[in-house]
Amino acid sequence: MPIEHAQISVLDRGFIFGDGVYEVIPVYSRHAFRLQEHLERLQHSLDGVRIPNPYTNNAWISILQELIKRNSPDDQSLYIHITRGIAQRDLAFPDSSVSPTVFLMSCPLTSPSQELLKIGAHAITAIDNRWLRCDIKSISLLPNVLLRQLAADADRTETLLFREDTFLTEGTASNIFMVKNDVLLAPPKDHLMLPGITYDVVLELARSQNIPYQIRRIRKDEVFSADELLMCSSTKEVIPITKLDNQTIGNGFPGPVVNKLRLLYQSYKNETMRSSEC
Ligand SMILES: Cc1ncc(COP(=O)(O)O)c(C=O)c1O
Repeated sequence: MPIEHAQISVLDRGFIFGDGVYEVIPVYSRHAFRLQEHLERLQHSLDGVRIPNPYTNNAWISILQELIKRNSPDDQSLYIHITRGIAQRDLAFPDSSVSPTVFLMSCPLTSPSQELLKIGAHAITAIDNRWLRCDIKSISLLPNVLLRQLAADADRTETLLFREDTFLTEGTASNIFMVKNDVLLAPPKDHLMLPGITYDVVLELARSQNIPYQIRRIRKDEVFSADELLMCSSTKEVIPITKLDNQTIGNGFPGPVVNKLRLLYQSYKNETMRSSEC
C-alpha cells in the first residue's frame, strides 16, 4: 500500500519502548544481496530480544520477492521492522497471544556520489556510549541518532565510535576498517558491534585477493596513524575516509588498498547480482 496509508497502533511496543529489531537489505537488478545472511542476522536479533520470528525463511523470501516486484526502481533498499506487538504499557513482555508487528518498505537504493568516493568521507570521533548488545540490530537507535548528529553538526559524514575512548568499535551506521603497512585491520565481531554483512564481504574479498588482514582490537591512536580508513554498509557499500576530527588520514586522499577493495566490491556485486542467470 502507499506509505501514507500504512498505520500502527499508538500502543505498539515499537512506538512506546523501541521494543523491536530491523534489517536493511540492498537489492540490485531486483535481486536481494546476501539474503540468507540478512535473514540469519534477523533471526539472531529476534533471538537476542526474545521475539518469535513471525515467518519461516521461505515465507520471508516470497514476501520480499513480492515487495521487490511491486516496487521500482530495479535497485532498492528493503527495510524490515519487527516489534513485540501491541499491548497495554508495561515493560514486561505481554502474554503469548500478542503477535509481533511487521512493517516492510522498499526505497530506491542510491549509491554514494562519485564526488564522495573521489575525495573520501570526513568523519569525527566520539565515545561509544551505547549498550552492550550492539550485535542486535535494535530499533532503539537513540544513541546512534545522537552520535550521528554530532557528525551532522560538524558537517561530517560519520562518527567513529571508541569504547572507553580507547578502542574502535564501528560507526553509527557502518563498520570501519583501517590499513597500516598494507595490512587490513578489522575490529572483532563481538557484542560491541553489529556483525555487518558488508564487513564479511570485504574480508572475503581481501582473503580472495591475498590482501593480508588481521581481526583484533584497534586502539584509537592506531586509527589516527592509519595509512587508510574505510567505512562500509549495505547501502553505502565501501567508502574511503580521508579526514578524522582535524587530522588527515594518510596523504589525505583515498589510498590504494581501500580503492582496490571498493572496486573489488563493485565487480563482485555486478558479477553476482547483475548477471542474467541470477
Ligand atoms: C551500527 C551499524 N554498524 C554496521 C552497519 C553495517 O552493516 P551492514 O553491512 O550489514 O549494512 C550498520 C548498518 O546499518 C549499522 O547500523
